[in-house]
Amino acid sequence: MFQETLESGVRPPGYPRELEKLVRLKDGRSVTVRPLAPADAPPLERALAEVDSETLYQRFFTRRPRLDAQQIAHLTELDYQSRLALVAVRGGHLAGIVRYEGEPESVTAEVGLVVAHEWRNAGLASAMLRELEKAALARGIFRFEAYYLEHNPAIATLLARFGYAPPRILSGVAETCKDLLPTTSPTPAGDLASPVA
Ligand SMILES: CC(C)(COP(=O)(O)OP(=O)(O)OC[C@H]1O[C@@H](n2cnc3c(N)ncnc32)[C@H](O)[C@@H]1OP(=O)(O)O)[C@@H](O)C(=O)NCCC(=O)NCCS
Repeated sequence: MFQETLESGVRPPGYPRELEKLVRLKDGRSVTVRPLAPADAPPLERALAEVDSETLYQRFFTRRPRLDAQQIAHLTELDYQSRLALVAVRGGHLAGIVRYEGEPESVTAEVGLVVAHEWRNAGLASAMLRELEKAALARGIFRFEAYYLEHNPAIATLLARFGYAPPRILSGVAETCKDLLPTTSPTPAGDLASPVA
């Protein structure tokens, strides 16, 4: 079960507690958004085991991603600088997860998002991406790259609205990017969902 907020004892060094927020979605529901931590490994493993194969395919480009203990550790052990993930949690359940992955000292990172079906189209991915972009910028990451399957209109719509470049399609995979500095590409205003704490 995902904890809404983590006790001080299980927060790893460098855990950016300031990124914890209560977010109200456009359908009126609220979720807690907070950084992912190693303590989340067991519930994350369970949640990934229950995800439908189409969602896995859209997120990882394979219906059977390698999700063994080593990979779960990789997904949950973050330095919160070059690699950072945010989870949205409600009632112990995972509503969504966004992350960026970069190399240490790099100003570029790759972004990935997934939202549980029952939470889609309420602005959750938009709210989390907005928080992730702000967190990245504060950590010296100035450019996000994103890859998604060519026929994935939800993510294509979302990224276009966020100011990502028109995608380049290669072998059915769309590749796009965004410069995060506010002067070059504004993030949409809080019209969909708003952090309330
Ligand atoms: C992509 C995804 C993260 C979006 O999550 P979400 O919380 O529903 O996103 P939001 O509600 O913030 O925004 C979704 C946008 O897509 C639009 N959308 C949804 N389905 C759509 C469709 N079939 N065609 C066109 N647009 C669509 C919505 O209208 C919304 O745009 P709007 O706010 O301008 O109306 C979610 O669909 C998902 O988890 N998909 C599977 C994983 C995946 O594809 N990840 C991307 C690769 S990294």
